Amino acid sequence: MSLFNVYPLFDITPVTANDVYVYDDKGAEYLDLYGGHAVISIGHSHPAYVKNISEQVSKLGFYSNAIQNPLQVELADQLENISGCKDYQLFLCNSGAEANENALKLASFHTGKQKVIAFKNSFHGRTSAAVAATDNPKIVAPINAQQEVIFLEFEDLEGVKKALQNNDVCAIIIETIQGIGGLDEASTAFYKGLENLCQQYNIVLIADEIQCGFGRTGDFFAFQKHGITPHIISMAKGMGNGFPVGGILIHPSIEASYGLLGTTFGGNHLACAASLAVLKTIQKEQLMGNAQQIAEYFVEQAASIPQLKAVKGRGLMLGLEFSFPIADLRKNLIFKHHIFTGSAKNPNLLRILPPLTIQKQHIDVFFDALKKELS
Ligand SMILES: Cc1ncc(COP(=O)(O)O)c(C=O)c1O
Repeated sequence: MSLFNVYPLFDITPVTANDVYVYDDKGAEYLDLYGGHAVISIGHSHPAYVKNISEQVSKLGFYSNAIQNPLQVELADQLENISGCKDYQLFLCNSGAEANENALKLASFHTGKQKVIAFKNSFHGRTSAAVAATDNPKIVAPINAQQEVIFLEFEDLEGVKKALQNNDVCAIIIETIQGIGGLDEASTAFYKGLENLCQQYNIVLIADEIQCGFGRTGDFFAFQKHGITPHIISMAKGMGNGFPVGGILIHPSIEASYGLLGTTFGGNHLACAASLAVLKTIQKEQLMGNAQQIAEYFVEQAASIPQLKAVKGRGLMLGLEFSFPIADLRKNLIFKHHIFTGSAKNPNLLRILPPLTIQKQHIDVFFDALKKELS
């Protein structure tokens, strides 16, 4: 049987990994500045993570959501402590798309309305409502196109107001910092404006923190810099450090009822063990502080690259924008220098999404390689 051929693959086969390094089947070492697409938060094969998951699987790997699972309660408490988001409620699922799917569904249940406002260049996942709110017609199938989504530009508050006049919008969904779209972030005035309009028109504000959350920017959630209180916060990627886990934090103003949302695997014992290890390690190793410090160092070093047009993003969610397509540069970084980086919708943008454990010496290795490639 062949694999359904949807991924263009680099010819590299990782077999082991440790912290910021990945090793292939020939024993070659790669510096991971991509984190498997912003997934690796506390570093590959972190001992606390391996221990927590191994111990859990040897006791109980899975049981359904029909029984008490104290690990879910512990995870909710730890999330409240570390994020400072008080009195939210936690619903667990398995991926980023599922988190947004549940967020949008809940917004529609809560308000009784059905239209969604999303933003140009957005990416919210590939399930039904999430992909309809994603600004990429290539991945929206006819079956998804029945969702009514209005796409607007960041900063277009007037456009948002106009779109609300019929009072049929249930949710505004926004990536606080866009990921694949190219690391754009709106102004605090815009986020606050959205928050006010949501209150005025009974609309659910969904902060998609799937890529920018879980400590990656140096704040636990990226929206916290803007001082807003979203109704729903969606999470995944760094939440499990590679274990498939996602979730939404739901504001206390939105009430639960039995059967409203549900999942077989979401919040299973192993997923909770993985995510608890991530939270404990972020705190113990002060990884949010490290993200901030290393990001500052990275930006300082970037100033010495004359070919650079701009450094975009913040924390350890960064993009280097050039005036030429970066596809060849990225390939050379991988095959000649053994450094993984990421691409974006903008062909001139090289993305940097390393584990939050990264150190200055790794950034030096990257800039040495970059200078060699650009000289
Ligand atoms: C901002 C954002 N939202 C949603 C998703 C979808 O997550 P998943 O691939 O886990 O379904 C992604 C994945 O890249 C993302 O970056």
